[in-house]
Amino acid sequence: MLIGDAERWGQGLGTDAVHTVIDACFGGWNLHRVWLRSEAWNVRAHRLYERCGFRPEGTLRQAAFLDGRYEDVLLFGLLAEEWAASHG
Ligand SMILES: CC(C)(COP(=O)(O)OP(=O)(O)OC[C@H]1O[C@@H](n2cnc3c(N)ncnc32)[C@H](O)[C@@H]1OP(=O)(O)O)[C@@H](O)C(=O)NCCC(=O)NCCS
Repeated sequence: MLIGDAERWGQGLGTDAVHTVIDACFGGWNLHRVWLRSEAWNVRAHRLYERCGFRPEGTLRQAAFLDGRYEDVLLFGLLAEEWAASHG
């Protein structure tokens, strides 16, 4: 996920976009589980995902090579039943 205009960050657009995708996954496509991966440095994104109900599920150590160095990658997951419990 990328909001290209950084001046629009922090206005709830990312949260709204994730809610829309999750609604489609669980409400529209009847999926059981959604997961994502995110580089460990990206605390802003992690806060967003956790605010949307995703739970941390583990770390892929040094799984990404960015700007000449290896970075850990975090996994987050959300189950349909967890989404239903928090959003009806
Ligand atoms: C990560 C990214 C998508 C987040 O998008 P965003 O629109 O800034 O996210 P939000 O505005 O929903 O949430 C960010 C902050 O805005 C605040 N906010 C302001 N108004 C809000 C509203 N109406 N509803 C929800 N949150 C709101 C939130 O509290 C949140 O603050 P916090 O993180 O300090 O708790 C965006 O920063 C981005 O494109 N980054 C570059 C690419 C990237 O890193 N992508 C993720 C890859 S894993």
